[in-house]
Amino acid sequence: MKLRILSGADVRRAVTMAEAIQAVREAYVQLSTGQAVVPLRTPVPVAKREGVTLFMPAYLTGSDALGAKIVSVFPANPARGLPLIHAVVLVVDAETGRPLALMDGTYLTALRTGAASGVATDLLARRDARVAAILGAGAQARTQLEAVCTVRKIEQVWVYDLDRRAAEAYVEEMKGRGPPIPTDISAAGSPAQAMRNADVICTATTSRTPVFADADLKPGAHINGIGSYTPDMQEVPAETVARARVVVDSRLASLAEAGDLMIPLRQGLIAETDIHGEIGQVAAGLLPGRSSDQEITFFKSVGVAVQDVAVAHLILRRAAGLGLGSEVML
Ligand SMILES: NC(=O)c1ccc[n+]([C@@H]2O[C@H](COP(=O)([O-])OP(=O)(O)OC[C@H]3O[C@@H](n4cnc5c(N)ncnc54)[C@H](O)[C@@H]3O)[C@@H](O)[C@H]2O)c1
Repeated sequence: MKLRILSGADVRRAVTMAEAIQAVREAYVQLSTGQAVVPLRTPVPVAKREGVTLFMPAYLTGSDALGAKIVSVFPANPARGLPLIHAVVLVVDAETGRPLALMDGTYLTALRTGAASGVATDLLARRDARVAAILGAGAQARTQLEAVCTVRKIEQVWVYDLDRRAAEAYVEEMKGRGPPIPTDISAAGSPAQAMRNADVICTATTSRTPVFADADLKPGAHINGIGSYTPDMQEVPAETVARARVVVDSRLASLAEAGDLMIPLRQGLIAETDIHGEIGQVAAGLLPGRSSDQEITFFKSVGVAVQDVAVAHLILRRAAGLGLGSEVML
């Protein structure tokens, strides 16, 4: 049995952000229209290292895409010079059950998480959005900006990180990326400064408490919330959640995992019925997007295996055509 092995570099070469956004959009539609088998992901805590390894399988029945991701989040890693997140994705043939490929999932995770915000920004942000604010300047923040700039004509970007050096390194790197990412990118001294004129905000931090104040939001802003993947983690103020139009990637997963929603629910500030719906329902035309130019919209993503499996299948198709990676006999 042959298995194709793809490195992070192969994954980067195989698909563009625009293609990943399209693949994730189609995956979300399948998820929200009963065409996906997605058990809730299984976290295995590694308590003595304060780490967690998540097992995330999915089968998209519409596109016949089957596979699983194994992703680890080990908070002590950055201090020892290692990435916070390590991941692999296994692609399985839905015809026979045969494993087809194993690929590095670290960049794939950043790509599909960026693509998720690309889908949501396209469907929910104001058409005339020009200014973006990125809170958190880590691995996800890079693909967040790339995705937002892929779907809106962003002219100015502000980035804020608790670690000023991380924000400055981000500015240097992203300024040189080229279109669609603009060159007007600055490090902000505070979240308020970053958010002052922001039409699209991405929160991509490991924070446990809100990373901006509700009063910092400009009317009509759209927020993509990427961190907050456990019941006690929060990035977005409860007051914002209470007044925003809230759209999630998966209702089931976000109500089980996202402190950004679970904390205001516990506090009685919102009810489950205040969650407008899933982004796949909006993409499928089953639910409207924003209702006015003044409304605050909030997309909360916890990450769903359908994103990984859909993007991994696309990568494998492209890689086979481009001759990327190597094949091993198992
Ligand atoms: N939704 C998803 O599908 C998805 C996918 C991947 C990762 N994530 C989550 O996204 C978050 C970011 O991941 P990453 O890989 O970019 O991590 P990272 O460690 O590379 O970067 C996080 C950055 O956030 C900064 N930060 C922490 N608290 C802050 C605050 N209050 N204000 C501003 N900056 C702050 C840190 O200094 C760091 O630079 C993590 O919680 C991760 O688990 C979510």
